Amino acid sequence: MTLVASPPTTVPVGGPSLPQERRLVTSIPGPKSQALQARKTAAVSAGVGVTLPVYIVAGGGGVLVDIDGNSLIDLGSGIAVTGVGNSAPRVVEAVAAQLAQFTHTCFTVAPYDSYIEVAETLNRITPGDHAKRTALFNSGAEAVENAVKIARHYTGRQAVVAFDHAYHGRTTLTMSLTAKNQPYKNGFGPFAAEVYRAPMSYPLRDGGLDGVVAAKRTISQIEKQIGAENLAALIIEPIQGEGGFIVPAAGFLATLLAWCRANGVVFIADEVQTGFARTGAMFACDHEDIVPDLIVMAKGIAGGLPLSAVTGRAEIMDAPQAGGIGGTYGGNPLACAAALATLDTYESENLVQRAREIGTILTGRLNAIRAFDKRVGDVRGRGAMIAIELVDSATGEPDAALTSRVAAAAHAQGVIVLTCGTYGNVIRFLPPLSISDDLLVEGLQVVAHALANA
Ligand SMILES: Cc1ncc(COP(=O)(O)O)c(C=O)c1O
Repeated sequence: MTLVASPPTTVPVGGPSLPQERRLVTSIPGPKSQALQARKTAAVSAGVGVTLPVYIVAGGGGVLVDIDGNSLIDLGSGIAVTGVGNSAPRVVEAVAAQLAQFTHTCFTVAPYDSYIEVAETLNRITPGDHAKRTALFNSGAEAVENAVKIARHYTGRQAVVAFDHAYHGRTTLTMSLTAKNQPYKNGFGPFAAEVYRAPMSYPLRDGGLDGVVAAKRTISQIEKQIGAENLAALIIEPIQGEGGFIVPAAGFLATLLAWCRANGVVFIADEVQTGFARTGAMFACDHEDIVPDLIVMAKGIAGGLPLSAVTGRAEIMDAPQAGGIGGTYGGNPLACAAALATLDTYESENLVQRAREIGTILTGRLNAIRAFDKRVGDVRGRGAMIAIELVDSATGEPDAALTSRVAAAAHAQGVIVLTCGTYGNVIRFLPPLSISDDLLVEGLQVVAHALANA
């Protein structure tokens, strides 16, 4: 950690040229951030919470710089968004060029080619080599909503199955698909109709149930409680994100998929958090050769610009009537320009491989901690999407208070980590794929120190 005498007076420029160092020049949050947080409290809805109230002026590589001049190690990527890094030069260049050309027409009024090129790219890189179509939206939740709409239209059925621990967003339908009450659902009902919940495979907490057996249990429940003939779609995160980076046991996804195929149920993979190299494959489905009917994407798709997508089988995607799918901003030209640069960067810079390298460092270090600290109940995930589940070492029960203490201590030392999990006891690591090994290791050392002293 570098210590400097006083905060810089000029705002640094973001991108990879930003000094790649953890540098604390004030306590966290510093005085300028505290002043902004007071303004935030007075001006912004209290429902919009903030994990770490440091106000950011620049970001790039593996760091975020705050208004007080502190440089923090970013192990969250703005929740798995800045896979290619903040202000990645190719993204900046592409967006700036588009900005000078035109900013908006609404694709459904007067179209432009970058939308088509994004669709062509997603049709190519998503799992499966069948004929595909794509539609673009703004947020993950909006894309999930549309995937369900499309599946319902195609099948003529209404019921949708989501899973224990699932997270799919905060709109009424996606909140209804989401499992966790606090903070996502509490007080926001009534919820959408025809949404059913089924058991997930959660190896740490279901006694290590075999994936095929767990899937059969789930299928049996669906058949008894809903009936396949009423079911439009089953939606699942191949690795659950907010639920706690839960990797289902091998065979769980494949067994569900086979049952969906046999029963005319649309299998929707929500890869909003897992997509785009994050897990050490372009999509998490690729790890088990899962070819979903529809795949939902957002977050890592456009280097931080708001864009989301549904890609899927041509016959399903083409089912809705013209005008039934779309929106004013979906596939905005700036977001499409960013996406084309971002998607090309994942491929040309082989960020799938980089995610695997990051995963090796993360799991190596975290398993080493687990070997002597029994409060680390599990180390799991894939690639650059890894988490630790913290438990009471005597009982194995989730320890949310410990988790909060560790995250707070890491934050105070200039490392941004996020927590998650149904029981609030998971610390997740989602570094930008542009982070250096040195910075990643330093960030992990800070977290290890925070855990040792918590
Ligand atoms: C798996 C998953 N689906 C959907 C969403 C919702 O995405 P958004 O916040 O862009 O609406 C998220 C966000 O965290 C997510 O992780």
